[in-house]
Amino acid sequence: MPLVNTKEMFKKAYEGGFAVGAFNVNNMEIIQGITEAAKELNAPLILQVSSGARKYANHTYLVKLVEAAVAETGLPIALHLDHGDSFELCKSCIDGGFTSVMIDGSHLDYEDNVALTKKVVEYAHQFNVTVEGELGQLAGIEDDVNVSEEDACFTDPAQVYDFVTRTGVDSLAIAIGTSHGAYKFKPGQKPQLRFDILEEVQRQLPGFPIVLHGASSVVPEFVEIINKYGGNMPNAIGIPEEMLRKAASMAVCKINIDSDLRLAMTAAIRKHFAEHPDHFDPRQYLADGRAAIKQMVAHKIVNVLGCDGKA
Ligand code: G3H
Ligand code: 13P
Ligand code: ZN
Repeated sequence: MPLVNTKEMFKKAYEGGFAVGAFNVNNMEIIQGITEAAKELNAPLILQVSSGARKYANHTYLVKLVEAAVAETGLPIALHLDHGDSFELCKSCIDGGFTSVMIDGSHLDYEDNVALTKKVVEYAHQFNVTVEGELGQLAGIEDDVNVSEEDACFTDPAQVYDFVTRTGVDSLAIAIGTSHGAYKFKPGQKPQLRFDILEEVQRQLPGFPIVLHGASSVVPEFVEIINKYGGNMPNAIGIPEEMLRKAASMAVCKINIDSDLRLAMTAAIRKHFAEHPDHFDPRQYLADGRAAIKQMVAHKIVNVLGCDGKA
């Protein structure tokens, strides 16, 4: 099977009450760890590349590695641009073999976001490439900001129908309280997501796939290993897994996970060097990093996404 776009996998995910994992990839071991887990569990996959990943590893290397993963697994895999910030970047990825792109105009004025997103959709759809747009800006829920400032960060459900119909996007990322990175809530703050906004978005756009960014759970077991072996990540905290599972059973069809992979790989490599200070062959510690990624992704597929057996 060649690389696929996200259309069919999102249709199945919406109807089946599960979500597809969108995992960020930067090198061979990360791609292998993710795809080995998905193959064993027969799960659909989105492998996503940020502009930083593309600068780090090179567009062609990443495309070829992902194509190798498709050949090895036979799974439906979409190769997706994460947080595209310009028409030119999206076009370059579409021309270079990606099957899905995100155009992130969430920081722009509404009308500018509509215009940029529509331009990308018009180009992408000529090549059967699916497009994710974004409305609302991700942020942590700050205790000390007043309600109107706080609400300004979340997606306004009153805008979503207009945005989707005018742009023609295939999926929409929304802001309901998730945020990027390993520090999503303040110490002592109760993690929460605005399920009321998700419900209203779902009412406005029945059957339409919704995306959650910033959806790592910052699994405490891995933070503890990092801290035990010389790391310094106090107060790292993520989205509770049961909240993500609930979102996946609703309109959320794509859940973005990067930080949890970084934590898993870093924890395994720190532990490896603590236990084997004499090692200097990269295959030895990268193999542990890859195994930790595989274990993390298997856990996400079964316990968070619910997409095992759905390829
Ligand atoms: O949302 C951002 C992803 O975690 C990718 O991060 O831009 O450092 O590759 P990056
Ligand atoms: P995390 O930092 O929560 O893993 O989010 C990743 C993401 O949204 C990539 O687009
Ligand atoms: Zn993101």
